[in-house]
Parts: sequence; structure tokens; C-alpha cells
Amino acid sequence: MNASDAPVPGIAWQSVLHPAGPDAAIILQLTWILFIGGAVLFVAVMALCAVSLRRGSAGRPKIKPMVWLLGGGVLLPLVLLSALLVFGTWRSVQLTQPSSQHAVKIAVIGHMWWWEVRYSHPGGREDVVLANEIRLPVGQPVYLGLSSADVIHSFWAPALAGKVDMIPGRVHGMTLQADRAGVYRAQCAEYCGEQHARMALHIVAQPPEQFRAWLMAQAQPAKAPSSAEVAHGRRAFVAQRCSACHTVRGVTDPAAAASTVRAADIGAPDLTHFGSRLYLGAGARPNNRANLAAWIADPHIAKPGVRMPASTDMDPATLTALAAYLESLQ
Ligand code: CUA
Repeated sequence: MNASDAPVPGIAWQSVLHPAGPDAAIILQLTWILFIGGAVLFVAVMALCAVSLRRGSAGRPKIKPMVWLLGGGVLLPLVLLSALLVFGTWRSVQLTQPSSQHAVKIAVIGHMWWWEVRYSHPGGREDVVLANEIRLPVGQPVYLGLSSADVIHSFWAPALAGKVDMIPGRVHGMTLQADRAGVYRAQCAEYCGEQHARMALHIVAQPPEQFRAWLMAQAQPAKAPSSAEVAHGRRAFVAQRCSACHTVRGVTDPAAAASTVRAADIGAPDLTHFGSRLYLGAGARPNNRANLAAWIADPHIAKPGVRMPASTDMDPATLTALAAYLESLQ
């Protein structure tokens, strides 16, 4: 997927060359300075080398070998590399330190091959769980606690910050900030198996009041069906045992509220507000009804090796109703 697929025109959404966060800006500046410094050093040493090979009228080198060796081989690199080291260290310590004191705290857990995203206690309530999409208030730092449920993954949103590895059994902290509203693409940056390349996550930076309204909506249980087709889809969701792996908060009837389907431990994305997401299958396809129906019928076409089984025996009407139901979960 490339920049032209960006849902928000005019934003280079996955590019280190177009930073939209304070850390990405520092990293880009460091990259350019180190690249230019290295290039200057290379050209200067090569030029000195060429000069030293020139012979005078008596056949002797124009520059004494010792002068060129000490000048081009020791003095010049020492001065330039030391300057780059001092500059690099000075800028590196200005990178944002992770702090769990920020108002918004998000746990991001890597799975093969998707991202579990948990907003910790918004408004004092229980965690809000979603998948493959992070929303944050623009211009405000948020805390990410990064870990993994299986193998090593790595979190990388090139336009916002550097990479942080996600290691099973550990939590690595990270501060993330987007200075411009928009959608940014993050990508798993540590090879983690067959679908490593299709392990994408989208970061939506919104004005703070929009973000708060979105988070409060995500904290609500799933909407009741608004049409006969959607109700058919919800019955199919339970009958087809989708709920054995996927959580939809409030999907059971009120009398059985205590047994509200909770299946995240099995390792499949929470679908309570699936319809509000931009993509399905961790960035595999844009989220619309046709893509969704095709995905449910056989997710291995879009993402070979994905752990969700195919439902090729499902009749077309049920498939469409199921897709309509999931789409309705805004
Ligand atoms: Cu997860 Cu690569």
C-alpha cells in the first residue's frame, strides 16, 4: 500500500520524510545531518587521496604520504565524526521519554497478525477494547504500553515516531504525539511470520473534543439491530459461532447479560464497534460491505495463513446479512 491509498488527501501518511510528530521531526533531522556529514567526509577523503597520488616533476608525491595519512585518515574523520556524535547524542536525548502520566493511556498488544488496542479506564470505566486502529487527540502526547501475545513484533508509525519492539512478557513504554489531524499508517517492523507484511495499524489524530466523543461511543455496548436484515445477521453471528473467538459487547439478550460474549483471550479482534473502523484484516482491505462479505467467506484470499477459518458453505443471503450486521456496529 502506498501514499496514494491514503484516505485523507494531502497527507503523506506513512513517510519518514513528512514528519507529523515531534520525535519524527528529530529523527528526520538526525538522518539528514548524518547523511550529509558522511557524504562530506567521503568526498573529502577521496579528494585528498586523489591529490596525494599526483606526482611532482621529480616523480615524488606532491604531498608527503604521512601528511595525507594523518590528515585524511585520522584528523579529518576524528573532527567530523566527533562533531556528528556530539550532535547525534544531543538530539537523541531530546526525543520524548515515555511517561505513563499522560491523560490518555493505551495498551497495544501484538498478535499474529493484528493489533489489540485497549484504552485504559476512560472516565474511570472499564477498558475499551478495539483492534487495528488507534485514535488520539491531536497535539497531545499519549502513552502507549507495547507488548506481545505471541512472537516479537515492532510498532512503527514512520510519520510520528521511531520503532519500539513488542516483546512477549514485557511492556515497552512509548509516547506518541501527532501534531496534525489526519490518518497515519503504522506497520509491524519485525518479521513475525507469514503475514508480517499485512500487519498494519491506522492512527487517526482528531480534535480533542471529537476524540472524546469517539471514545465515549466506543465504551458503549454494541447497538441493537435497526432492520430485519441486521437482526438476521446478528442471529447468524451467534449461530455460526463467530462469537467463539470474537467479542461483541452486549450481543447476548439482556436476560443473559452476565454471559455477554467475551472471547478476546482466544486471540481474535473485538468487533463491538467494527463498523467504525477504516480497514479490515489489519489493513488488508478497506472496510466496506463487499470486502467484508468476501473476507468472511474466505479470509485466506486477502490474507493467506490468517487464523480465521473460511465459511465457504454459508449461503449468500446469510453472508450479506452478517456483513450488514458487522457494518451496523458503529
Ligand atoms: Cu508483527 Cu511483523
